[in-house]
Amino acid sequence: SSDPLVIFTPSGKRGRFPVGTPVLTAARQLGVDLDSVCGGRGICSKCQITPSYGEFSKHGVTVAPDALSEWNSVEERYDTIRGLKKGRRLGCQATVQSDIVIDVPAESQVHKQVVRKRAEARDIVMNPSTRLYYVEVAEPDMHDPSGDLERLVDALRREWELPQLEADLGVLRTLQPALRKGEWKVTVAVHLGDDSYSPRIINIWPGYYEGAIYGLAIDLGSTTIAGHLCDLRTGEVVASSGIMNPQIRFGEDLMSRVSYGMMNPTGSDEMTAAVREGMNTLFVQIAQEADIDRTLIVDAVFVCNPVMHHLFLGIDAYELGQAPFALATSDSLSLRAVDLDLKLHPAARVYILPCIAGHVGADAAAVALSEAPGKSEDLMLVVDVGTNAEILLGNRQKVLACSSPTGPAFEGAQISSGQRAAPGAIEHVEIDPITKLPRFKVIGSDLWSDEAGFDAAIAQTGITGICGSGIIEVVAEMRMAGIVDAPGLIGSAEQTGSPNCFADGRTNSYLLFDGTENDGPKITVTNNDVRQIQMAKAALYSGARLLMDKFGVDHVDRVILAGAFGAHISPKHAMVLGMIPDVPLDKVTSAGNAAGTGARIALLNTDARREIEETVRQIHKIETAIEPCFQEHFVNASAMPNAVDPFEILRS
Ligand code: FES
Repeated sequence: SSDPLVIFTPSGKRGRFPVGTPVLTAARQLGVDLDSVCGGRGICSKCQITPSYGEFSKHGVTVAPDALSEWNSVEERYDTIRGLKKGRRLGCQATVQSDIVIDVPAESQVHKQVVRKRAEARDIVMNPSTRLYYVEVAEPDMHDPSGDLERLVDALRREWELPQLEADLGVLRTLQPALRKGEWKVTVAVHLGDDSYSPRIINIWPGYYEGAIYGLAIDLGSTTIAGHLCDLRTGEVVASSGIMNPQIRFGEDLMSRVSYGMMNPTGSDEMTAAVREGMNTLFVQIAQEADIDRTLIVDAVFVCNPVMHHLFLGIDAYELGQAPFALATSDSLSLRAVDLDLKLHPAARVYILPCIAGHVGADAAAVALSEAPGKSEDLMLVVDVGTNAEILLGNRQKVLACSSPTGPAFEGAQISSGQRAAPGAIEHVEIDPITKLPRFKVIGSDLWSDEAGFDAAIAQTGITGICGSGIIEVVAEMRMAGIVDAPGLIGSAEQTGSPNCFADGRTNSYLLFDGTENDGPKITVTNNDVRQIQMAKAALYSGARLLMDKFGVDHVDRVILAGAFGAHISPKHAMVLGMIPDVPLDKVTSAGNAAGTGARIALLNTDARREIEETVRQIHKIETAIEPCFQEHFVNASAMPNAVDPFEILRS
């Protein structure tokens, strides 16, 4: 036909349309992803496009400079009030005049990609649970009796091809004033539904609503609860905040909380109430930071370990404290926020990722979603180090998972001078191979302890202890300097040549900082500290080795350290201790808070929820407690780096 040819980039979709067809209409007919909230009425400006004039040899078309209609009054008005970026047009106003190539910029796509910080990680494609639609509703008519809601739903079906929608009572109560105030024009937020929830209108605003709606990605850890507030249209993180988990007052670690629940008849309920209350505190905090109303938060995704999972849901965690560690459910959950006492939008939804096993929680599932070992060609080992290490090993063939009881030593607990990562904690250590004397860095300062200005830099905090990454570094440095031997004994000053070694009861200790009145207490590494780290790293390593046995391999291609703590471990020191299997150092990377990223992916893309549910069903779960070879690996792995496995790093 002689109708003009319209080609959209970057999709490459094309078709012929009669002169005068609006670009938005052409895009819709071709299935091009071009956004619109107002349905082409020139109000929302989400439909912006960039016409490309000139020669397009790739497409074989020459485009005349007047291939789109002139600016119309709507575009003029929009441009004067808001300003259109140079070269941009409103897709719903510009009409096709002759052959044309039209670029849809990323921000005008509904399913746009949210770029993640790390280059190797997958991008997030926007496909949120809840979207905004602007619609014009027929006025009530004596001759055609129907409710306002029915006419609204009808208009949404006609204009937006939405399914039959329901509405909660909260919406019904605001519906009539909103319709009349907006003169029969309203914006609605529609939750598009999932397996357990039918599509529905959850909020209504008179006229065109300029603002955004939000979702929360929450990483519910046993120590801290961290939340990221995301704009559900752009995917952007608009605020991040965290609080200490208020359950800490019932027990530092998971097992002490499980036993608190066992010892006290109301213990489990108290812990549930505490975590939910903490959650609401976090919501207030994060909404304040973003300067938004909490009720604009319509969706929340949670990731957590199994004990946190149960206690948050109000399920007694008793069964998780003993073999065979049965979960109440391992499936994902789609719930109403009000049922969890969460103060968000009254119709807000909550999605909790599936748990992998009784020891391997929704947080590990989130790591699997974020790092996607099952999509990797390389054999990837992903370790999320916390009180328990959660370990995934896999590639396209299959993915295995286990958890390993590392205990809290990696978080600085049960270490004589250990503490949580906080200003004042020693986080990096170097020991001079000749003098065998240490120097260190403290959280909150960039200076080494032997640099000028160090004392002034730490005047505020002093030096308070050693955090998890600091203890790993100091033990590894002691090993490299010959202060501690492979079996884990600290030598005396004579044996090691280090003036900082001193007899301490029946064993020796190493002095890291001798303490002053102003700067803080004496900080030493005792032989028992070394022992604790040996046990923890042996548990981690044996878990990884067990998965390698089950996979039938004796090496991995890549190691990814996940978790807030993983972000601070230096790969070299981890390898010197034999925490992780031997791979070239440049193959060890940190994924930062991968569980939090996984939560964000599931928040912004509901298809990713189906994806991780399927992935988790396919993951092979390995229980370390019943595997005899785990014990064998454990015994060998307590030596540094290992009694039997070769480690290249110590040879170079
Ligand atoms: Fe809303 Fe064009 S679709 S301004």
